[in-house]
Amino acid sequence: MIVGDGVGFAYPDSAELFGGLDLKVAPGEVVALTGASGRGKSTLLYVFGLLLRPGAGRITIDGRSTTELDDAELSWLRANRMGFVFQDAALDPTRTVLDNVTEVAVYRGQPRATFIDRAQELLEQTGVQLRAGARPTQVSGGQAARIGLCRALVGDPSVVLADEPTGNLDLVSAGQVLDGLAAAARGGASVLIATHDPRVIERCHHAVDLDRS
Ligand SMILES: Nc1ncnc2c1ncn2[C@@H]1O[C@H](COP(=O)(O)OP(=O)(O)OP(=O)(O)O)[C@@H](O)[C@H]1O
Ligand SMILES: [Mg+2]
Repeated sequence: MIVGDGVGFAYPDSAELFGGLDLKVAPGEVVALTGASGRGKSTLLYVFGLLLRPGAGRITIDGRSTTELDDAELSWLRANRMGFVFQDAALDPTRTVLDNVTEVAVYRGQPRATFIDRAQELLEQTGVQLRAGARPTQVSGGQAARIGLCRALVGDPSVVLADEPTGNLDLVSAGQVLDGLAAAARGGASVLIATHDPRVIERCHHAVDLDRS
């Protein structure tokens, strides 16, 4: 569960991108975040994903206010409660695809083996068919996007933040990504998706439009 109350943010020496924003994504809910390019969708996901601190307001994760937490406590919440799908996938080219997907093990201080079965299941469900030792430099852009999704979901997070996860995918692959996000929500996750994609918006429970906030 993720709740933002009166959230505001501005980059240094820049105008406020959003302010006084109230946004709640309940467990099981899938919410679309829309708005023109450059409006602040990715930034809002970074703020709600605890990667940037808000300039105003409060983010609450699973009932726990994050305002008072130090960087180590925020990192713990990110590793144990949250899954983030980056707009550009952001895979580590020096590691195999499977190592990328099981990266959460490192942040949780658990063996990678704990996450291998789930990682393989997610790669299969999202239609990424790769040999075991494949590297991110050897996959297509669309495959990289789905690998990034698998990495976000492998730890069964209670909050999933996805930044244009269907951005460069064909119809079938986009459907597989949406199925993955919908399955996470059915499992009880709160899912927030920044998107321009009408195929995504129509499958969300509702949409929050930054252009109207
Ligand atoms: N690190 C940064 N420092 C200063 N300004 C930034 C930084 N990152 C982004 N911006 C600016 O903040 C604004 C919002 O960017 P953001 O990436 O959040 O938009 P977006 O809605 O995700 O756009 P898109 O749909 O193109 O992905 C833009 O004007 C951008 O130039
Ligand atoms: Mg963006």
